[in-house]
Amino acid sequence: MNENYLREFFEDLHRHPELSFEERRTTQKIKEALLKAQIELAAAALPTGAVGVIGKQGPVIALRADIDALPVQEESALTYRSEVPGKMHACGHDFHSAVILGAALLLKEREAELKGRVKVLFQPAEEAPGGAAQVLKSGVLSDVQAIFGVHTIPTFAPGTLAIREGATHAAVDKFALTFKGKGTHAAHPDLGIDTTVVAAHFICAVQTIVSRNSSPFAANLVSVTHVEAGSTWNVIPEQVFVEGTVRTLDEQERAKVKDRLENLATAIAQGFGAEVTIDWVVGVNAMQNDRELSDFATRLAREDGFAVVRSPQSLGGEDFALYEQRIKGAFIQIGTGPSAPNHNPRFVADQKALVPASYFMAHLAQSYLESLGHEQH
Ligand code: NI
Repeated sequence: MNENYLREFFEDLHRHPELSFEERRTTQKIKEALLKAQIELAAAALPTGAVGVIGKQGPVIALRADIDALPVQEESALTYRSEVPGKMHACGHDFHSAVILGAALLLKEREAELKGRVKVLFQPAEEAPGGAAQVLKSGVLSDVQAIFGVHTIPTFAPGTLAIREGATHAAVDKFALTFKGKGTHAAHPDLGIDTTVVAAHFICAVQTIVSRNSSPFAANLVSVTHVEAGSTWNVIPEQVFVEGTVRTLDEQERAKVKDRLENLATAIAQGFGAEVTIDWVVGVNAMQNDRELSDFATRLAREDGFAVVRSPQSLGGEDFALYEQRIKGAFIQIGTGPSAPNHNPRFVADQKALVPASYFMAHLAQSYLESLGHEQH
């Protein structure tokens, strides 16, 4: 593999960020790079994104990168910073694409030795979200036995990998409530039902779900982030809109938080003679990294000279979790820091981590396929 070529590929993607489901140029560049290396493209009904296949026969595993950028104006001092105003690879998905492309090129060089097949997945629209669901729907992963994902982590330096079994990212749910009362003149509150007061009680009460109903050891979160009420100073509005998000790492806690939130909204509305409609939008589940795969990756990373730490848990979401509902998987975070956090205009992924990460992901795929072979004999 030509390391300079890989660095240039990364810088080119960084210069030309594209938002979720619009990654046409990025997809083109990835496909060109795969075809140039004579890597076969898998047939998949994906408008953007691509899947390459290396290896001839045997068990199938997958390596996953995401490819989309964010609506963020870059403020880095990089020579290869974004050339698109208001768009930036602020989550390192350009870096993930380059890592997995590098791994694909290395695996192609070793294709004759492979004890199975590797699908290299370049997933669109992780941020939107919706990309992982689209990939699963396409069926391109239906024969995949194990999947490894990569992600930058700016709190660790190159040479460090963060891996953890179980949940590293949260289940992400959204709630949108409309409290309906009775509008009236601000000077005659007795003639109406003031939903501003109802919403205020609700907003205070939901704070107790985490402090009073959740286990002190559970990482549950409820945030109210958007409130709309009325439009002027002397009218009590007819209704109030309240929106926010719930984050949890555990399915039982997730159900409990939803239940408590709905009960509070309904009972508080009722107590004031108001009504509430509740729109609950179920998002991605919490990530569930497979213990065996996480241990396997940890052992191999240490053998390859990486420092391995346990991934910190985050209440951010990551749609790699959708794959892990169906396929056993592990999510490997690559130290690319120190840098401003992901999604920040000053986020930078240190290129020193790129080539070693490609070598590691290729080694991981090759070794894991070998271990599957041993199991079957
Ligand atoms: Ni990301």
